[in-house]
Amino acid sequence: MENKNFECPQPNREHYEPIKPQVSRRQLLRVAAAGFAALGLSVQAEMASAASKRVKAAKTSAIPLRGVKGFTLNGQFIIITQPRKGVFKAFSGSCTHQGVRMSSVQGSDVVCSAHGSKFSATTGKVTSGPAMTALKTYKVTVSKGDIYVTV
Ligand code: FES
Repeated sequence: MENKNFECPQPNREHYEPIKPQVSRRQLLRVAAAGFAALGLSVQAEMASAASKRVKAAKTSAIPLRGVKGFTLNGQFIIITQPRKGVFKAFSGSCTHQGVRMSSVQGSDVVCSAHGSKFSATTGKVTSGPAMTALKTYKVTVSKGDIYVTV
């Protein structure tokens, strides 16, 4: 049986005037997107800086001129080269082909003994394959005869 005396509990909406937003939805979304992007980037940068630290790696005298030496720093295998007198470079010591650790130099290149890939001891770029990707580089600073690597 139908109740014909039913009254809607909603208030009378005749005088209801919707509030018009000061900013369009599109503007709001743009601002929000920019805010999230900035926040995301700053969080990423903060995480990267929190994860990396400056580590004392070796005395400058420990790295032979036009040579290479490997170290485990902050849990990563790093190689340090001295391609020119007093110039020190640090790279990931794992070959980008199949991850074999490298620790020898031929001429001006770091050489992987597994399949013969070569990387510039100055830039870490591939000079001969099969590796296709350059070695990751690390920031090096020298102070009072000590080499520091930011890993
Ligand atoms: S792992 Fe270095 S060349 Fe293959």
